[in-house]
Amino acid sequence: MDARQMKIKAAEAALSYVEDGMRLGIGTGSTAEEFVRLLAEKVAGGLKVQGVPTSERTARLCVELGIPLKSLEELPQLDLTIDGADEVDGNLSLIKGGGGALLREKIVAAASSRMIVIADESKVVETLGAFPLPIEINAFGLASTRIAIEALASRLGLTGELKLRGTEDGPFTTDGGHLIFDASFGRIPDSETLANQLNAIPGVVEHGLFINMASLAIIAGPDGARAMQARI
Ligand code: A5P
Repeated sequence: MDARQMKIKAAEAALSYVEDGMRLGIGTGSTAEEFVRLLAEKVAGGLKVQGVPTSERTARLCVELGIPLKSLEELPQLDLTIDGADEVDGNLSLIKGGGGALLREKIVAAASSRMIVIADESKVVETLGAFPLPIEINAFGLASTRIAIEALASRLGLTGELKLRGTEDGPFTTDGGHLIFDASFGRIPDSETLANQLNAIPGVVEHGLFINMASLAIIAGPDGARAMQARI
């Protein structure tokens, strides 16, 4: 089974948690897109859901495939969000934001009664941090925010480069008009402390640590999909 087939397996398993009438947060990324494609087939077959997309990219795909969408203003409380992740640990703490949609993803997940993560085995780690942590920042005061994040990292014993995410045309800009630092910490032993302290830096809009948000992860490997509950 190749990586795409594993993503499809995880997305298929997640579909069984979607019930008629649900208000659904719809994630971003290649795994979430497989879920969107499968969901669209169900919708075409008569399933009634209202989706709130976590990015402009996901919104475009949903519109193209005929999934009814609402804004979070219209549907401020959701039943379930299904989204991918860049890393998942044994407590279902996540790193997200590889696709740059972390802010909307976190707002949508927080507005949902339940968040289910879908991923392939390659995303499961013992300790978060091998995947560079996306930190969404306001463009104003970029250099000061960098210094504040570096000082925080150093207090927590974390080292590694903070790289401003770029594109061929210049800095990468999020759907909210912000910039992203990708922080290559390597290993984050206390992700909860880092998450809380990043939130206290004024120039940090949001970060990709999702702690205590997912209640279930569906992990697909070569032998199929398995459900992963938090270890504690
Ligand atoms: C988008 O900003 C991310 O949080 C994605 O959910 C994450 O990067 C997973 O993407 P893939 O499913 O493409 O690996």
